[in-house]
Amino acid sequence: MTNENITSVLTEKRTFAPNTDFINQANLIKKEYERLLWKSGTDFEGFWAELAEKNIFWFKKWEKILEWNEPFSKWFIDGKTNVSYNCLDRHLKDKSNKPALIWIGENKEKRNLTYRELFVEVCKFSNALLKLGVKELDRIVIYMPLIPEAVVAMLACARIGAVHNVVFGGFSKEALADRINDSKAKIVITADGGYRRGQIVPLKTNVDEALKKCSSVEKVIIAQRTKNKIEIKSDRDLWYHELISNLPADNPAKELDSEHPLFILYTSGTTGKPKGILHTTGGYLLWTTITSKWIFDLKDSDVYWCTADIGWITGHSYAVYGPLSCGATVLIYEGAPNYPDWGRFWEIIEENKVNIFYTAPTAIRAFMKTGDEWIKKYDLSSLRLLGSVGEPINPEAWMWYHKNIGKEKCPIVDTWWQTETGGILISPLPGVIVTKPGSATFPLPGIFMSVVDKNGKEVKPDEGGFLVITKPWPAMLRTIYGDDERYKQTYWKRIKNAYFTGDGARKDKEGYFWLLGRVDDVIKVSGHLLSTMEVESSLVSHPFVAEAAVVGYPHDIKGEALCAFVVLKQSANTDHHLFSEELKNHVSKEIGPVAKPDQIKFTESLPKTRSGKIMRRLLRDVASGKQTLGDTTTLEDVSVLEKLRAEEEE
Ligand code: WT7
Repeated sequence: MTNENITSVLTEKRTFAPNTDFINQANLIKKEYERLLWKSGTDFEGFWAELAEKNIFWFKKWEKILEWNEPFSKWFIDGKTNVSYNCLDRHLKDKSNKPALIWIGENKEKRNLTYRELFVEVCKFSNALLKLGVKELDRIVIYMPLIPEAVVAMLACARIGAVHNVVFGGFSKEALADRINDSKAKIVITADGGYRRGQIVPLKTNVDEALKKCSSVEKVIIAQRTKNKIEIKSDRDLWYHELISNLPADNPAKELDSEHPLFILYTSGTTGKPKGILHTTGGYLLWTTITSKWIFDLKDSDVYWCTADIGWITGHSYAVYGPLSCGATVLIYEGAPNYPDWGRFWEIIEENKVNIFYTAPTAIRAFMKTGDEWIKKYDLSSLRLLGSVGEPINPEAWMWYHKNIGKEKCPIVDTWWQTETGGILISPLPGVIVTKPGSATFPLPGIFMSVVDKNGKEVKPDEGGFLVITKPWPAMLRTIYGDDERYKQTYWKRIKNAYFTGDGARKDKEGYFWLLGRVDDVIKVSGHLLSTMEVESSLVSHPFVAEAAVVGYPHDIKGEALCAFVVLKQSANTDHHLFSEELKNHVSKEIGPVAKPDQIKFTESLPKTRSGKIMRRLLRDVASGKQTLGDTTTLEDVSVLEKLRAEEEE
């Protein structure tokens, strides 16, 4: 970890103040914001106690707010609550007929579930899980398309204290098998298939293949979606709809400890194996609830749409738990933004009068590229707030979003957070903060962050450094599942007394935070974190490949794209062009289409230090077509670089 690469060149002068109409109706206004800031600074625990009391239903109140044995935290000790109760039961009194979910299928089907209906479905399915012998703390893998049953499955686990582990439906059978095995899941919930751009994704078949390598799984539950032919193993497989028929429509939510594990979600790490990020109950629930209220300004009349799949943390926190705990109407959409055409999102917004829209910069950049005509066809006047998440949104994309989607009247919340943080930590508050395009602005009240050098010393304004979190927060990950040591090493060892985010950042003279991307070997492709190591392992698993190094390079739409440098075995006598396609497909099959390299460069050797470490910095320069100005003196064989460049020019 060095300071190189994180010099910042952006200097953005435009500012946007919230307009009076928005301010007058905002959930969080300036005076209250200032009080919260003051309170969190002067009485940290009192601040959290007040929020937990006001925003969450507790079966039994906590005895103590926080136990902090760095890096392990416990929040709301001895408090008893239930996430599913907070998302469902507590709304039944006055919102029982309000739509909780509006589901849109890729083939334009639509299903509405009111809070009452969602409650009934969750109760039935949780009864089914109990009937199958699921106990508290059992791990349940959810590998599903974005259909209401997927949300039901998550809430049903939460209701009975089982721990869900959602695996993105776009992941391959290998990735699925790894995640099942690492979490030792007892049950897999899937569907016969899912739709993606008109094609059927064979989810159940992937499960069948994966389970050949997994011994922990006892039962597979299948929701019916595509009705394609699948194989049924009669002693193992059960249909969702058969399972819940005739089960009671009530099932009291378990009174769970505040620190009861809620879910595990795998995210890419710098070293091979993905990390199972563990989140627990009370703290996570509190933070996703209040951030939804503050940042998305959720009102009873709003239709709120977060475009993320539940396979990612954004889908967990801001398509399911946060907004449902606030009693909002949440829209979920199964398909792709460009199916059947690039007007799909705008059509959904028009038809459903969406008020709040939360998406990712990679989607925004794709829309910019396809042109305005798709947008002009639809009435977007229902929109009142826009959000962005997943990677830095560059000022051009921000301005485009502001003008073309927000019609210059919607505040934009650029929200910074991570799978590990559980909820948003840096974001504008739409009725309070003056925004600057490209800046996520300030850490929220209760969140303490700074930008430091490698010794942990705060850097000067406008200097680049490492983004760290200096106090625990309730939605923080508790550990990496089954690996406390890796948790310590990954997040808490690099900078003293702080959680290191892995991101570079700078603070300007007014204290605004500007994110500068990852500083480690993790790459963001289309908003999805990929570990270079994982892609490399997949490449070398091909019998022709001797060695591989993967780096990211800037890409117009994806943000970053993957370039793989591959050294072939001597015996491999192949046509480079054809083999390059074969390798790309190999990775796509092994990990999933998101990980498919955009470029493959064959080389005789890789640039390495004398100690044998691949010098990725140099490869990044080659991949992005830059001259290498940095230090190359540690390079073992300087000619390697020359050769790579020469091949480039061929
Ligand atoms: C990484 C975390 C947070 C949910 C989705 C991604 C990058 C995220 C922003 C933003 C700049 C951002 C960071 C972070 N990131 N949001 N608003 N501005 N960068 O979760 O897959 O765990 O990725 O995404 O690099 O560390 P994740």
